[in-house]
Amino acid sequence: MQLNSDFSQRVATRPEQYQFIDSPLAGVSRMMLERAGAEIARATSIVRYAPGAGYSRHTHDGGEEILVLDGVFSDEHGDYPAGSYLRNPPGTSHQPFSVQGCTLLVKLWQFAADDTTPVCINTQTADWFPGLVPGLSVLPLHEHNGVNTALVRWAPHTQFNRHLHAGGEEILVLEGLFCDEFGQYPEASWLRSPRYSTHAPFTLEQGALIYVKVGHLGADLLGDQFIQSSPK
Ligand SMILES: [Fe+2]
Ligand SMILES: [Fe+2]
Repeated sequence: MQLNSDFSQRVATRPEQYQFIDSPLAGVSRMMLERAGAEIARATSIVRYAPGAGYSRHTHDGGEEILVLDGVFSDEHGDYPAGSYLRNPPGTSHQPFSVQGCTLLVKLWQFAADDTTPVCINTQTADWFPGLVPGLSVLPLHEHNGVNTALVRWAPHTQFNRHLHAGGEEILVLEGLFCDEFGQYPEASWLRSPRYSTHAPFTLEQGALIYVKVGHLGADLLGDQFIQSSPK
């Protein structure tokens, strides 16, 4: 399967386009944002666990990145409330479940081979730092080989400089309304901008909170094999 796997294309998926499809596990459904591969895939998805749902024990051969959007996600290592950011490096395994239900952003097979450090950040209690312009604050989540992931909070009526994404950019709008010259994107909008694209983003009266990753399009990541080997 190839869904939004041509990284030269700009993608803007809006919440009204969401279609959750049942996964092979009872009570677990997913909205696919991008996918390359078959059963094993380089994939970015919004995943929902119904209350009491569990997933089979699995090993993250290509690494797994999770942002808990809603509810509480759990595995045998702990409980992760909304706002938790997890990185389960290649080779790790777990058996996840959710007692009350949860919604997750999940990215599979998007680790560099030498990125072996587990990460578990509670963004509800972590420190924020000033951004590059007034009105922006940044909570760094992860950096490896030029791929940077962060939460960025935008105060109302913040205007950011026009900038270039040499390694592409991916955004999930977590709160508010994020805007640029191409459109206005409410909560749960997912944007992927290709390498060497530019834009000049801003917010209106609502402000916004976004998850943002830059530098990963064209980076040497484990799941690239699925893009090259899979039929279009
Ligand atoms: Fe997992
Ligand atoms: Fe940007």
